[in-house]
Amino acid sequence: MKNYVIKGNICYSKTSNELCIVENGYAVCENGICAGVYKKLPECYETFPNYDYTDRIIIPGLVDLHVHAPQYSFRGLGMDLELIEWLNTHTFVEEAKYSNIEYADRSYDIFTEDLFNSATTRACIFGTVHVQATHLLMKKIENSGIKAYIGKVNMDRNSPKSLCEKNVEQAFYDTEKWIMESQEFKSVKPILTPRFIPTCSDELMEKLSILQKRYDLPMQSHLSENLGEIQWVKELCPNTSFYGEAYNKYHMFGNECPTIMAHCIHSGEDEINLIKKQNVFVAHCPESNTNLSSGIAPIRTYLDHGIKVGLGSDIAAGSSLSIFKAMTMAIQCSKLRWRLVDKSLTALNISEVFYLATKGGGEFFGKVGSFEKGYEFDAVVIDDISIKCPQTLSVRERLERLIYLAEDKNIIAKFVNGRNLFEKVK
Ligand code: GUN
Ligand code: FE
Repeated sequence: MKNYVIKGNICYSKTSNELCIVENGYAVCENGICAGVYKKLPECYETFPNYDYTDRIIIPGLVDLHVHAPQYSFRGLGMDLELIEWLNTHTFVEEAKYSNIEYADRSYDIFTEDLFNSATTRACIFGTVHVQATHLLMKKIENSGIKAYIGKVNMDRNSPKSLCEKNVEQAFYDTEKWIMESQEFKSVKPILTPRFIPTCSDELMEKLSILQKRYDLPMQSHLSENLGEIQWVKELCPNTSFYGEAYNKYHMFGNECPTIMAHCIHSGEDEINLIKKQNVFVAHCPESNTNLSSGIAPIRTYLDHGIKVGLGSDIAAGSSLSIFKAMTMAIQCSKLRWRLVDKSLTALNISEVFYLATKGGGEFFGKVGSFEKGYEFDAVVIDDISIKCPQTLSVRERLERLIYLAEDKNIIAKFVNGRNLFEKVK
């Protein structure tokens, strides 16, 4: 069904400070695109079929701007280490298993099913270094109906031999083959994914830069997450004055190359200015910030600068796939940062994190993450009847509570670019 109307309590962001709520209003979908939200349905849409979700809450689908699919298997385990030790002890050991396609098949089935049932409609996903397993992941996500950028990870140093590219020529060949084979997908697109500078040699970055230009690809990676990591990058790249330059040197830091950098917790002034100037997206992953004791990203500063910011689960450094959880943790972390680190940076509020989780991250996908006219029609319908309370709450209060309680079981329908992925019996 391409044209329809959905009725319910429609909540969406216009800006980070403007959360619009239309109580028992109508959102119109025309050929997968939102034709607007109305308090009273205009006559010209009266013939459209109607999904009646009266009294339920309808929000734009959520966007996960940074998630590692192969790490879903060990989420919630091994959380007592900092980044580099955590990678060596848990992450690389698990990711090496994806050379086995049967293991990848089982694991990616679980990841895809849980993502399908969540409120997430768009995601930017890291696979592993393995071409076959990453292609399989793309196939599963494509079949689920979720729209995603998915990356074969590239890495060739400072990691176990089993996870390193054989040599840069082979890496170039494999990555190009993977890009070509990805053309068969419609909803899922390839994204260049150098893991991070400590595991990517200059020669490898050079090759990826060629592929970026040849296929006009976006890229995703990690930036300034951990103080030890930043010191290590200084030693590995003595000719750069800050971490971001090590990507920018290869023209993979925004501008012509749409870029997502996860974390940016300890970025200095020059790095922040370059992020802003070149329209790099920051993926804020608050649960990961705390689990790996990395620090708390200064999101208020980024919003004040007009930097593009979205939220990420960063599974498995984050344990939960829920972007609702990322929203509340973004608020909680910002409160601790205000109290303990910098009194000049006020905490984030509900309206702001709702924006980050929808329109903020959605912008990486184009006109995504809102019900404003012209936006791709991504919607999640939530029934909060099971959350019992004695008092009468406003729609805004109900939305706030849904975000804090973050329970996927309350989701009763999901739409991506107009397509209905599921509708549970009401
Ligand atoms: N930096 C490089 N690889 C990773 C990873 O897998 N997770 C996180 N959080 N940071 C990284
Ligand atoms: Fe990550």
